[in-house]
Amino acid sequence: QEPYIVSSKSFTAVAINCAAKAGEWIKSKLGSYEKLDIKVSTHDLVTEVDKGAEKLIRRLILTHFPDHAFLGEESTGIGAAAAASALHDVEESEYLWIVDPIDGTTNYVHGLPLYSVSIALAHKGEIIVGVIYDPSRDELYVAEKGKGAYVHGVPMKVSKEQKLEDSLIATGFPTEQTVLLPLNLAGIQAVAPRVRNIRTIGSAALSLAYVATGRLSGFWELNLNAWDLAAGMLLIQESGGRVTDTAGNPYHLGVRNVIATNGHIHDELHTVLEQANVTGMDL
Ligand code: IPD
Ligand code: CA
Ligand code: CA
Ligand code: CA
Repeated sequence: QEPYIVSSKSFTAVAINCAAKAGEWIKSKLGSYEKLDIKVSTHDLVTEVDKGAEKLIRRLILTHFPDHAFLGEESTGIGAAAAASALHDVEESEYLWIVDPIDGTTNYVHGLPLYSVSIALAHKGEIIVGVIYDPSRDELYVAEKGKGAYVHGVPMKVSKEQKLEDSLIATGFPTEQTVLLPLNLAGIQAVAPRVRNIRTIGSAALSLAYVATGRLSGFWELNLNAWDLAAGMLLIQESGGRVTDTAGNPYHLGVRNVIATNGHIHDELHTVLEQANVTGMDL
């Protein structure tokens, strides 16, 4: 049962194939992983399934495209400095694959079926393919630069809300507890009274996919990495939405603090975060 396996060697076909294969395997291991490691603290976890899935994806991609570069969470050192240096090393590559094998590891570890595989391909720093797969719901999100975004072949469109007060907004809690968590809590305190309600999904990639499908009006989070954002950002752009950093600058691969919305509410959300001094851009 491998519904998305396609024989074509196109970039998108390979990305879909990798996401589907890894996703099925990850799902088959839900509740039965063997090894739980902490990366920095008990807030930041990794299992052998994260590592195995990344290896599987990497092997498949490099089999098809041996001269392409690869950036994956589990083959990058821990922390912002390691991520920045890994990105710096590959940023200029002609073709760069950016992979989060399981986005939502904490959910995965607890058996909460809200996690995803995120795969993006950048060409000279510009994202040209983005694929997110949610194995629990069997939802496959695919975007190609300039060609739109689709969930199982159906075109996606961001939601229509024009004002924050009508909006459903998601965020995510940073794992770093000293500076970033308090900042995020202050952000929630500022945003919550202004919106219809707030959600935390626990997978940044899925949250972005939900903005692209219009299930969420917007999302913001601090201190993310390229592998959390790259695929979802293209999904949103191709669905008519907008993605910037929390200072309002256009998305690029180095963005860590993100605002992603249907476009209509973008400036309003940005203003609320800025006025509350919780953009994290001065850290
Ligand atoms: C995490 C998830 C989570 C977000 C964290 C990320 P991981 O990724 O996207 O929703 O709040 O900041 O690190 O570690 O599960 O791949
Ligand atoms: Ca992630
Ligand atoms: Ca991950
Ligand atoms: Ca992780």
